[in-house]
Amino acid sequence: MKALRKLGGLPPLLLAILAALLWFGTARADTDLPTKFSDVGTIGNTRHNLTQRQSSGGGPNGSSMDQYRNDYREICVYCHTPHGANADVALPLWNRTIRNTTYTVYSSTTLTNATVTQPGANSLACLSCHDGQTAVDSIINMPGAGRYLESQKTSQNNAFLNTWNNTRGPDATVHLGLSGTECLACHSSTAGFIGAGATDFSVFAIGTNLTNDHPIGVLLPTGEDWKVPTGTKGTTRFFDTNGDGRMASSEVRLYAGDRGPEVECASCHDPHGVPSGGAGSPFIKSFLRVTPTGSTICLTCHSK
Ligand code: HEC
Ligand code: HEC
Ligand code: HEC
Ligand code: HEC
Ligand code: HEC
Repeated sequence: MKALRKLGGLPPLLLAILAALLWFGTARADTDLPTKFSDVGTIGNTRHNLTQRQSSGGGPNGSSMDQYRNDYREICVYCHTPHGANADVALPLWNRTIRNTTYTVYSSTTLTNATVTQPGANSLACLSCHDGQTAVDSIINMPGAGRYLESQKTSQNNAFLNTWNNTRGPDATVHLGLSGTECLACHSSTAGFIGAGATDFSVFAIGTNLTNDHPIGVLLPTGEDWKVPTGTKGTTRFFDTNGDGRMASSEVRLYAGDRGPEVECASCHDPHGVPSGGAGSPFIKSFLRVTPTGSTICLTCHSK
């Protein structure tokens, strides 16, 4: 209140501007991850549609983003390509730049297996956007003939990305990622006027320090505190909760590490969205494979 009383001597116009700033500040303090996407049906209706043009049912038209990322007019191409995929990483037809990054990994004296390894492929996939080091549109093979650049596998070449011609609006002049100085320069609660109306993406920007996130690159221990994954597909183990012997997107999985089955981002998340109850139902929030309600997802692996 002391600060507010001090404002008593200011001219009305300045007060109005301050009030507007305060109002925008409150309006954008999104703690509940609001979405302008319906999160039903396909990935096209989720936040992982980086064309930002929702495939059905209203939502953003993407035009306000045209300057900040290439609109490839295809949803899958931001992550996958039918040709010229990056065969150096164990991910399906991978089209994204994956930099050689050393992450600060989780550490704790109470872990059963003290060694936490660097993220595996099924985490690097997510971190290729979520660590904020690389633009969301940094891909190896842009749609159309002759739009391939080998060096994009490990580094982002803006001159190459700039050759993309946006047929729906202005071309992107910069290629931004999920970091404080890029997309979050507008999409955060501290963005000010320039970001007015932009959803707060702060919680999506994980960075390269993984010490405050659920450990990844950790081995699933055995013993009374742990459940046993009964399903096997190739080198991947999964909790076959519906007992049909097949690995479903709604089933938590563990990926083969050097030592055995390990947790990675995609153990808990499916970036395409998982229906909460049968086809056509809303996706489980935060691209999770299993609902967090009642700690259901946690108790898939943990016994306590
Ligand atoms: C935001 C990135 C992203 C987008 C966009 C995306 N995918 Fe994927 N996709 C992935 C990742 C990551 C995996 C590997 C999942 C894992 O680690 O198990 C994957 C795996 C797959 C697989 C292998 C089976 C599976 O589910 O594991 C198929 C098939 C697939 N994607 C199809 C598509 C199609 C079709 C589209 C467009 C409609 C698409 N994806 C869009 C990231 C993406
Ligand atoms: C192509 C870049 C890209 C990749 C790859 C990617 N994401 Fe995202 N993700 C984003 C962006 C950008 C957002 C922020 C939202 C937006 O732009 O609307 C986001 C949002 C999210 C959200 C919030 C969704 C919501 O509706 O609240 C979650 C959870 C998420 N991502 C998890 C993952 C996981 C896990 C993976 C890997 C399996 C992954 N992402 C891979 C770009 C990506
Ligand atoms: C210069 C400021 C600015 C930058 C930089 C920016 N945005 Fe936005 N963005 C906005 C504003 C303002 C809106 C709200 C108006 C609208 O929806 O058209 C918005 C809307 C959006 C929307 C649709 C609304 C929603 O539900 O969130 C998405 C998705 C989005 N931005 C993603 C991104 C991504 C991803 C980046 C980085 C590649 C980015 N933006 C960079 C200002 C910005
Ligand atoms: C052990 C399971 C698990 C693993 C592994 C995991 N997550 Fe999550 N993640 C969750 C849960 C559960 C939530 C929902 C949190 C909530 O609703 O409060 C979540 C939420 C998120 C969100 C939304 C923002 C937020 O904080 O709510 C993003 C983005 C995300 N995860 C990305 C990742 C990435 C990237 C990785 C790998 C580096 C990863 N997650 C690994 C379980 C996991
Ligand atoms: C895919 C399986 C899996 C899921 C799902 C999972 N965890 Fe874990 N969790 C692990 C593994 C593996 C470890 C490392 C265990 C070890 O070495 O002691 C771990 C470790 C932990 C630790 C201990 C960290 C420490 O410092 O000792 C906590 C706390 C934890 N998980 C909480 C959760 C919560 C909360 C959820 C639900 C949001 C969850 N876990 C979901 C597999 C999982």
